This record gives sequence, structure tokens and C-alpha cells, in this order.
Amino acid sequence: MSKNNIYIETYGCQMNVADSEIVAGILKNVGYKITNNIDNADVILLNTCSIRDNAEQRIYGRLGNLNKIKQNNPNLVLGVLGCMAERLRKDLIEKKKVVDLVVGPDEYRRLPEFIDTAYAGEKGIGVKLSRTETYDDIVPYREDGLSAWISVMRGCDKFCTFCVVPFTRGRERSRDLDSIVNEVKQLSERGFREVSLLGQNVNSYDDNGRDFADLLAAAALVDRSIRVRFTTSHPQDLSDKLLYTIAEHPNLCNYIHLPVQSGSNRILELMNRTYTIEHYLELIDKARKIIPGVSFSTDIITGFPTETYEDHLMTVDVMQKVRYDGAYMFKYSPREGTKAYRMDDDVTEEQKSKRLNEIINLQQNISYEVNQELMSAEEIVLVEGYSRKSNEFLAGRTDTNKVVVFPVSEDVSKGDYVKVKIDRATSATLFGSLIEMINPYPERIQLTG
Ligand code: SAH
Ligand code: SF4
Ligand code: F3S
Repeated sequence: MSKNNIYIETYGCQMNVADSEIVAGILKNVGYKITNNIDNADVILLNTCSIRDNAEQRIYGRLGNLNKIKQNNPNLVLGVLGCMAERLRKDLIEKKKVVDLVVGPDEYRRLPEFIDTAYAGEKGIGVKLSRTETYDDIVPYREDGLSAWISVMRGCDKFCTFCVVPFTRGRERSRDLDSIVNEVKQLSERGFREVSLLGQNVNSYDDNGRDFADLLAAAALVDRSIRVRFTTSHPQDLSDKLLYTIAEHPNLCNYIHLPVQSGSNRILELMNRTYTIEHYLELIDKARKIIPGVSFSTDIITGFPTETYEDHLMTVDVMQKVRYDGAYMFKYSPREGTKAYRMDDDVTEEQKSKRLNEIINLQQNISYEVNQELMSAEEIVLVEGYSRKSNEFLAGRTDTNKVVVFPVSEDVSKGDYVKVKIDRATSATLFGSLIEMINPYPERIQLTG
């Protein structure tokens, strides 16, 4: 049978982006074509997210639209992958009759088989979680570009009481270090300039005794002109070794996403986050000493069960103490099956909104002030292309993950490293002028090949 066109739409976290590339790799291996044009698709796959209720509502809305397309094209196969597939399983098939395939994150190898089942007129369902699946041997299908995501581990064993991930992604397991390093080599040969190593809690990476710091060091040595980023670190077990490794390697980015969730020890305990605010703040201080100029971002949940206004003020206090470069802030959303779901969701919608707005405004002011401190600084920028607003400007990022915009220059193109002098800043963007093109890591030889 001649194989058809597959269209994949990705929602949720970067892990899902990486998984969609694995799915595309698996399907291409058996002869399917990947299309970016939904109108040409014979199979539409939505790779979905369950983290908050609004993420799921968005998918239900999208399924409603796609149902209309399907009515005009009854041969179209429609599949739900990812965390919602795992969480809602048969509900999706029984209630949303429009769905032909429901395949969870550890069953992607069997997708070709499930698609055949769907073509035969039956529902393809695969939602078993695995203790071992890492897709180590699958080459993800990626279009050429500058930045790539690489999953280095799957699952999560932390069981924060608000979170569905341990249920949708299963137990923690790490990929083989050498297979990850090989993937970085291949990306280097294809001209990629940035890789982000992904896991829900990368600090527990363990490949037969080789830990995450070992992995970062090995990835950083592949090609000094490739920037290596990572996410996410859990504050409980961020090791000194990891901090020293980041400080030691010039191309390991000085940027740590360190979700705090709340500033109140009482709430942190109810969340099962396993650290105190005192420990968290000490960690930030230590990281700033070991890695000069390191930037931090965080995640915060507002309105967790029993959160009082005093608890909320403690979160405000932590934000003022740390002065994050950026923050992702969310209203608490009860998730069925989690421990917190059994607690009364007693903070009203109105209170959640008010607290959320307060911290969003606060963070905007902090980001603005932090960025003003960079006035006249000379920053090394990896050029990503034209700025979003105008083709007369180029945009890229600093090592600390800040967007920098500067006027177009003939000599500079996508993928170059340049030095830019900052002369203006908003809370989200730095603006400046080009000083020179550079090789940012000249003191080391390139080890590619
Ligand atoms: N493993 C990552 C988190 C992935 S989920 C970590 O531990 O940092 C990303 C963020 O979504 C979390 O940090 C948390 O702030 C938020 N989140 C998770 N579950 C949530 C829920 N039920 N309601 C609101 N926000 C939630
Ligand atoms: Fe969820 Fe906590 Fe695991 Fe992050 S560490 S994925 S918040 S359970
Ligand atoms: Fe969402 Fe699953 Fe990622 S719930 S945030 S897609 S791990």
C-alpha cells in the first residue's frame, strides 16, 4: 500500500515537541510522509497536554473543528497522542466518536500498527506505560534549523500533589549517555547551533552512575560552537557538581529554570515539593556565587488549596528576593487522580485571578529593572533571524536566554554569533547595536568529527 501523508499538531511542553519528532521519525521509517499542510493530510495527529484544565479544553475545541473536516473526508484518520491520550483513554474514543486513535507517550513504536487498525475501521488504542522505553534508537525527524530539543529522560517520580505528569508519563528512566552525545554530533554536522536537553527533572538523570553533570559536560564537548541548554531542574537535588560544570564549560548556558511554585513552606509541604524556601534561597545564592551572571526563571502556582493571602505574600517576597529574569505563572487547576484533587479547591476563582495578576505585574516590573541593569553591556548573541516585528532588525538570544534585537547588517546571518552593545530594554526584550562578529568560544578547539 502506498503510504499516506501525516500531519502532526503539537501542544504542551517541549517534551511533546521532541516526542512529535520521534513520532515523525517512526512513521517516516515505515514510509509515511510528513506534511506541514493540514489540507493534504490523510492522518491528523494531535500531540496533547493535560497539565491544566484549559490545556485540555483547547484540545476539545480543536477536535470539534476537525470533526467538520472529517465529515467532508470520511477516510481521514484522526488521532490523539500524548498526555491526554494517557489520561482520558477510552473516554476520548467513547465520548468523542470522532477520534480513531488514542496513543500514549510510551506506545509510539506501535503507531504504524494502530494506524492500520484505524484504516481497517477499528479504533487503535495504546496507552500502556513502560518502565524502560526511551526511544534511544529512534532518529527523530527534524527539519534543518538552529535549535533542537533532545529528550534525555522520560517520566517523573516526584509526585508533586498538583501534577498529572507522573500519571501521564509514568516512571523516570534515562537515555543512554552515548546515544545522546551521538545525537548532538549529528546535529552539529547539520549546522545546529543550540540544543536543549529535556526532562521533567533532569537532576535525577542516571545512566549507570553517569549523572546529569556528566551528560552536560559530554554534550558541551561535542562542539564548542553549540550552546547547550537544559530544563527542568528540581530544587531538591540540584548538585554543586552541576553548578561547577556549568561554570566550567563556556558553551553551557548560564541560565537555570528553577520552579519554586510557592513562597510558603506550609504550601510547599502540601505540594510535596520536598524543599523549604530557606533551602531554595540558599541554592540561588550558591549558584550565583559559582556561576557569575547566571539568570533564573521559575514557575509559580497561585491559589493552591488553603493558600491564604499571607501565603501569597510569601510568594511575592521570594520573587522580590530572587529577582527572577522571567517567570511562568499559573492558576491552580485541580487534576483528577492527583493527591491535591482530594483537597478542597477553596481559593475562589476571583482570588486566584487577583493573586495571579499581582505576581504577573510584579514580575514584569522586576524583569524591566533587571534588564535596565544591562544598559551598555556587551552581550554575545546567537542570531536566530529577523526580529518578529521588522525585517530591518535581527533578533537572537544571549547565553542567559534574553531576546536581543539590533539593526540588520550585511555581514550577519542566521546562526552567527555576534557581540551587541545594549542601549535600551523593555521587560521582555533588549535592544542594541552590533559591535562585531565573533567566535565566542575561541579558547577551545572544536571536537566535532
Ligand atoms: N517538571 C517540571 C514541571 C512541568 S509542568 C517541574 O517540576 O518544574 C510545568 C509547570 O506547570 C509546573 O512547574 C507548575 O508550575 C505548573 N503546573 C503543573 N500542574 C499544575 C496544575 N495542576 N495547576 C496549575 N499549574 C500546574
Ligand atoms: Fe510534575 Fe513535580 Fe514531576 Fe514537575 S517534578 S513533572 S511538577 S510531579
Ligand atoms: Fe503537558 Fe504532558 Fe508536557 S501534561 S506539560 S505535555 S508532560
